[in-house]
Amino acid sequence: MTASNTGSAPSVPFGNMKIHYEQHKARIDEAVQRVLASGYYILGPELDKFEAEFAQFVGCKYAVGCASGTEAIYLALAAAGVTTGDEVLVVAHTAVPTISAISMTGATPVFVDIKASTYVMRETELEAKVTPKTKVIVPVHLYGHMADMEAVMKVAARHNLKVLEDVAQATGATYRGAVAGSIGDWGAFSFYPSKNLGAFGDGGAVTTNSEAEYKKLIMLRNYGQSKRYYHDHIGINSRLDEIQCAILSVQLPFVNQWNERRREIAARYTAALKDLVVTPVEQPGYKHVYHLYVIQTPYRDEMQQYLLERGVQCLIHYPIPAHLQSAYAHLGYKPGSLPTTEHIVKRILSLPMFPEMTDEQVDQVIDGIAEFCKEKALTTDVAAQAVDVAATAAH
Ligand SMILES: Cc1ncc(COP(=O)(O)O)c(C=O)c1O
Repeated sequence: MTASNTGSAPSVPFGNMKIHYEQHKARIDEAVQRVLASGYYILGPELDKFEAEFAQFVGCKYAVGCASGTEAIYLALAAAGVTTGDEVLVVAHTAVPTISAISMTGATPVFVDIKASTYVMRETELEAKVTPKTKVIVPVHLYGHMADMEAVMKVAARHNLKVLEDVAQATGATYRGAVAGSIGDWGAFSFYPSKNLGAFGDGGAVTTNSEAEYKKLIMLRNYGQSKRYYHDHIGINSRLDEIQCAILSVQLPFVNQWNERRREIAARYTAALKDLVVTPVEQPGYKHVYHLYVIQTPYRDEMQQYLLERGVQCLIHYPIPAHLQSAYAHLGYKPGSLPTTEHIVKRILSLPMFPEMTDEQVDQVIDGIAEFCKEKALTTDVAAQAVDVAATAAH
């Protein structure tokens, strides 16, 4: 009997929020009770406290809490005045909400390919896609590895563009000591529960060093009001509620510790799997925080099913890139437009990764992959494929 055919929970789930709650129950329960008893549920002292703490964590002057990562991206673009007729440079290999948020402003997402090594924006492609309509570049720090911000910032400076970092998957990641979300004009964060810093519901934040941007953002997230009943901008309701703020304040001091545990798990995976599949790369100077640990194998679907039958749950982030989604058919991208993106989406597999994972669970995943490769006599083949991909890594 297996996890897949009994419907029982896998012995190595992809993530486990319940165990996370159980390990921090006393602190979280106290925070929730405190807010419930306070009578203050929206835009109160817990928000002020969390925003100050989070700005300090990121190394920015300001953080503005909002309702989700999607709306963090939307609010930053709206603050920049991005609107219909504008273009935003972005990757197609991301969670689709990155793109939805751009579309919410009326602007057109213009897709650039990714690097095969780290799966982030291929900055060498940016310049060719800049037009007079381009307003913002959105590098996505996918899986927990930052995009090459130095290169992106140089292109932005040459063309007078703004830069919005999508940090949804990379809270706590660094490049030469600079924390993700502190380099561009804004950082957009998601506090979706399974993120490196998660709420117990939805949440997000925008970070910025600009006082003017900060002032605009706090209006935009609250109906565009400068004060009650005075609407200076067309805003939305995108507030981070007091209960989530109190929980986030409890969790924030642990983020670096949890990220270290993610890195330990990643190191264990990589040491055991590097000759069997393509394992993630951490470029020199970068700290990868492994929101996701993503391997590549040409036998992806078979391997995923094999592991599931042995109680190991893996997922695919993401099987269909944004430029080939039905919602974006009107943009006219055809298969073949983004070759590296389209190549890797058929091969990527995200292995279980959460800080509370035990070494035994990590080993169960490793053993499953090793057995799969042995049974299928794939070792040589897969190693050859790994070389293939490494050869394209510079692109
Ligand atoms: C890269 C990326 N950007 C944006 C988002 C959207 O965040 P949220 O789900 O909080 O709206 C996500 C969430 O999955 C994401 O992974």
